[in-house]
Amino acid sequence: MKISLSILTVFSIVFVLNSNAQNIDTKSVFADAEKQTEVMIKDIPAARHGKADLVSPRTVDASGQLVLSPSFRWTSGFFPGVLWYLYEYTGNKKWEAQARIFTDNIKREQFNGGTHDMGFKMYCSYGNGYLLTKDEMYKEILLQSAKTLSSRFNNTVGCFRSWDTMPQFTFPVIIDNMLNLELMFEATKLSGDSMYYKMAVSHANTTMKNHFRKDFSCYHVVDYDSTKPASIIKKVTHQGYSDESAWARGQAWAIYGFTMCYRETKDPKYLQQAENVAEYILNNPTMPADLVPYWDFNAPNIPNEPRDASAAACMASGLYELSTYSKKGKIYRKAADKMIESLTNNYRSPIGENRGFILLHSTGAKTHNSEVDAPLPYADYYYLEALLRAKKIKEGKKLF
Ligand code: GLY
Repeated sequence: MKISLSILTVFSIVFVLNSNAQNIDTKSVFADAEKQTEVMIKDIPAARHGKADLVSPRTVDASGQLVLSPSFRWTSGFFPGVLWYLYEYTGNKKWEAQARIFTDNIKREQFNGGTHDMGFKMYCSYGNGYLLTKDEMYKEILLQSAKTLSSRFNNTVGCFRSWDTMPQFTFPVIIDNMLNLELMFEATKLSGDSMYYKMAVSHANTTMKNHFRKDFSCYHVVDYDSTKPASIIKKVTHQGYSDESAWARGQAWAIYGFTMCYRETKDPKYLQQAENVAEYILNNPTMPADLVPYWDFNAPNIPNEPRDASAAACMASGLYELSTYSKKGKIYRKAADKMIESLTNNYRSPIGENRGFILLHSTGAKTHNSEVDAPLPYADYYYLEALLRAKKIKEGKKLF
């Protein structure tokens, strides 16, 4: 077993090194993304069915209709983020105007302390908006969002609590929660209050200690007893194949999250962790040749399992950033190039179809039979982000 795995490892690395350098026509991909987004904006009013609280695209249902979600859902910030990325790439004020409208639609979330998904919602929307416009109102909303999220931090556990509404958990922390730390780091930079930074570092350290297995794959959920320090009740999955499996998007959140923590802290242990996760992903025997993973690295019927384009898009974006810090940057950049090349050539929607989503073939929650082989807004968001990062790297510009 050991020998065959090491042979596969060598093959994977050789394969990645030999894959073509990025050969993507970014201009034409963004032009197509603009056309798709125009379709989506045109379809949104009818998809509301008179319900004003339905504000952000979520997916396409079995009958081909656009499904929208209210602002409190974890995905509500991704479409505003897509609009900000179109504005960043094109400089076209039309996209800034649309980004402002869809960002404003989720304003109330700054006060919603009932969810850990604050970073996903508010950083992808208001965070990108603030970086591009320096609008003072966006800054205030980001600070309020961070303050609200800080109410979910527990000193005994050392983490932000994830879900409140699942009776099977006591104090659940999911790997996805790593992505919310970017908002907290930003809040310290914007306010000068180190509390947010310290909370983010504590959450990252606790996650690094408890979420990972020896091979650097990670659990989806670690459930803590918040009445006692360092007390873990169980390590399980919610969206993966099994408690001991490696849910693909969870691995993507890990690589992206720890790379971002290294950017914000310059603590080498986060860089090492991101590299370890990257090795697990890229050398995994079930990773397909196009580097778009199956929805779970241990799904039972590989290769007859759905892929998850959203995981590949998020991994690619994280790997591009990691490539700028790591001694193994060349390998990571080539892997990200391959992911983006595959997504661009084989996973994009034809223009005018799929209600304006850009990428197809993502998996939301296979075990719940929800959004399987579907278009999803976070796939589109991280895909455009990865393309922007690839472009900056190619032009010798800094990512941050
Ligand atoms: N954060 C939820 C998911 O990745 O599906």
